[in-house]
Amino acid sequence: MISEPFIDYQKLFLEMAEELREMDDIGTIASYIPELRNVDPNKFGIHLTTIDNQNYCLGDSNDKFSIQSISKVLSLALAFELEADKLWDRVGVEPSGTPFNSLVQLEYEKGIPRNPLINAGALVICDVLVSRLKNTKQAFIEFARRVSGNKNIDYCPRVAESEKKTGFKNAALINLMKSFGNIKNDIEVVLDFYFNLCSIEMTCKELAQEFLFLASNGVNPLTNVRVVDASKSKRINAIMQLCGFYDEAGEFSFKVGLPGKSGVGGGILAIHPGKFSIAVWGPKLNSKGNSYKGMRILEFLTTRTQSSIF
Ligand code: DON
Repeated sequence: MISEPFIDYQKLFLEMAEELREMDDIGTIASYIPELRNVDPNKFGIHLTTIDNQNYCLGDSNDKFSIQSISKVLSLALAFELEADKLWDRVGVEPSGTPFNSLVQLEYEKGIPRNPLINAGALVICDVLVSRLKNTKQAFIEFARRVSGNKNIDYCPRVAESEKKTGFKNAALINLMKSFGNIKNDIEVVLDFYFNLCSIEMTCKELAQEFLFLASNGVNPLTNVRVVDASKSKRINAIMQLCGFYDEAGEFSFKVGLPGKSGVGGGILAIHPGKFSIAVWGPKLNSKGNSYKGMRILEFLTTRTQSSIF
């Protein structure tokens, strides 16, 4: 058996700070959701939480930001817990290889999205939750708060409204799926929940702590809340590994080697099962819509510590 290398996180974070000082500063902030244009593009934060609750941070790790698509992992966890394997009748587990909001596969695959992390799949998950939870928005945010024991987690109505005004592609996706019978509820209700879900704000610290359950077999070790069983936790990590970065999922696996999920707000969550969760945030995105510096610093971390899962 190969012994695990000891990771001196303190030293690692000092090295990461140095690496960041030298890193090129490229990329553009997401502007298709008008409210996201107001974010300071020069922000950058990191927070790592180990499963035994050691915490390490850097930069703007206590600033709230729009977690956007990262919240799709949480809605997936709840829907999977409620529906178990029935969920896979309505959404697949295959990588799409297409951008997050693409319509192309959906028509010839008869309204069944490739996976729950592309927009189409996340909309189906929202439909499941609207069917399952009375007062869906309230019930969902209470679930999010319970997972990490953090009452400060909330939606941002400004961002949700802003996306509602420009979310034409999401409207197209949900209408197409409705025509195939894969959306059961009123389109407006499901879209409203979806835009709110994407508008959730967290700091890097809150994000790392919220998703620590995926590093710990489905139980958040900070609160002892069981979010999903161990098998589901493993499967959610597998879906993140293959689908968390859309048409850049291969690149993230290749360079970083951890299950992860990005959001157009510039956040990235990554999980090392059995070890830690880490959240990074840098609003400038690369051409695939993922945080440029976020990807680079995670690549540095797993390379430097030899802690890719592969
Ligand atoms: O639906 C959208 O377009 C956004 N609310 C979320 C997109 C997103 O974060 C894609 N991820 N990288």
